[in-house]
Amino acid sequence: MNLKDLYIDFFVSKGHKQIPSAPVIPENDPSVLFNTAGMQPLIPYLMGQAHPYGKRLVDYQKCIRTNDLDSIGDTTHHTFFEMLGNWSLGDYFKKESISWSFEFLTSVLKIPVEKLAVTVFAGNNDIPEDTESIEIWKSLGIKEGRIAKTVEDNFWIAGETGPCGPDTEIFYFRSEDEIPEIFDPEDNRWVEIWNNVFMQYNKSLDGSISELPNKNVDTGMGVERVVAILEGVNDNYTTSIWKDVINKIEELSNIKYEENKESMRIIADHLRTAVFISADPTGIKPSNTDQGYILRRLIRRAIRHAKKLNIDMNSDWEQEIALIILDKYSKYYSELEANKQVVLEVLKNERIKFNRTLEKGLREFEKIASNITDGKLNKDLAFKLYDTYGFPIELTVELASELNLLVDVDGFKEKFKAHQELSRAGASAKFKGGLAGDGEAETKYHTATHLLNAALKVVVNEDVHQKGSNITSERMRFDFSCDHKLTAEEKQKVEELVNKWIKEEIPITKEEMNKEEALKSGAECMFIEKYPDVVTVYSIGNISKELCGGPHVENTKELGVFEIKKEEASSAGVRRIKAILK
Ligand code: SER
Repeated sequence: MNLKDLYIDFFVSKGHKQIPSAPVIPENDPSVLFNTAGMQPLIPYLMGQAHPYGKRLVDYQKCIRTNDLDSIGDTTHHTFFEMLGNWSLGDYFKKESISWSFEFLTSVLKIPVEKLAVTVFAGNNDIPEDTESIEIWKSLGIKEGRIAKTVEDNFWIAGETGPCGPDTEIFYFRSEDEIPEIFDPEDNRWVEIWNNVFMQYNKSLDGSISELPNKNVDTGMGVERVVAILEGVNDNYTTSIWKDVINKIEELSNIKYEENKESMRIIADHLRTAVFISADPTGIKPSNTDQGYILRRLIRRAIRHAKKLNIDMNSDWEQEIALIILDKYSKYYSELEANKQVVLEVLKNERIKFNRTLEKGLREFEKIASNITDGKLNKDLAFKLYDTYGFPIELTVELASELNLLVDVDGFKEKFKAHQELSRAGASAKFKGGLAGDGEAETKYHTATHLLNAALKVVVNEDVHQKGSNITSERMRFDFSCDHKLTAEEKQKVEELVNKWIKEEIPITKEEMNKEEALKSGAECMFIEKYPDVVTVYSIGNISKELCGGPHVENTKELGVFEIKKEEASSAGVRRIKAILK
């Protein structure tokens, strides 16, 4: 039986309700591109909100991590993976959690106890040593020498703030060597397989730790790693999860896996992730921003590696691979079946689009590379490869590094942003600071950020400057430099001033001018060095003048009523306002 089924059945037998995997694109959190852990969609419930399925939950969750995309190609990294998890929301705690993990590993998966070791929290100034977990492990038959204590590695938090707590991690001895009596977590023959977090605290922005309303348990176990262990292999891509996919790539390329493992792993991994992103209900398509850009990069990188394996670029090779993936996972994720045609079309269209320029682009790259004498590929050439041949910058970097050349990535990014600024209002507005779309609501919020920026200068002081912003169709967030928490009076005055300007029905005007001229005229901007020579300046009467890509409403009267919901610290010397328009 499949690991996922065994896991779900086991925890259902312990009174858990199975909850469906959340989409890979977070539903209510524009601050992250993808779900990166099983607990992420459960944060509100870990914080105390009642979950509709009750207090004991179990699932397998689709996760995507693209931050170490360049390490894909080794034996264990994946951009997409599934995380098994069971949760107690203020119900059972350490004893049941640890005992059930132990029972699942030793009785259901039949892992010998001798092959297991654990780490527990050693204690620090705020939180004592987790002696309770140590006692529970011992009572189950884990020898003292196989219990190690750490501080840093046994405290789990998703980022800087939020629900957190001490954890106990379970390790498996993945080697034929004799198993050492004393467990050393740094010895890499021991691999971590399961993490049980006792989530009973919340960490705030100021670093303080407070108790959560409930004592929760959050556990996470990676499917691909455990399957590799159960099947007794060190290379994840040789497990039953990947076998059919790798076989297909061998067949399409007429090359054996052993002859070019790296390219085959990249193709397999990237296409699987691309299938899951494009099947997500959010309807992401390849593009040049956010999730769409990741999707494009994944597909294009897979295509380039397929070309390296001499796979016929004009055949439907990627459809054949995608069909295997769709088939394998449809039983577990109904959206794959429902969106099958969409997925196949996304892949095919992107292949056709990239194929048109790939060959020429690669030739151009070779020409460029052969003319380089100082080991550096400059920003103009990197931009040409992007703009004319559709090479994501990461692809150029990868190609260059194969020839030991460095790419001026920062220079490229500057050029890229300048280009966006000029060419597309929507995309360039995004650059200004995270404008999620350019629908009507977002456009209003965008104009409201300019008014807020101006009002803060009047009410607080002239030195307030924008540090960032983030807009959704529901709200705006605005970060600004300021050395103090706004007083209630300041907040009220800011709100009143913005609303006064809205009522004054001030038209918004737009001009193009050169950068120097714009600055001389006193226009405000966030990062002057990132703007092109010719810039767009938006003015709201004589209240606000900013370099900006737009889009904006035509008249302030369109904004309705502005209301500040929250004012809080963002980082040192930077405050954040959350506001809405009604
Ligand atoms: N949140 C923990 C982790 O991601 C356990 O689920 O490892």
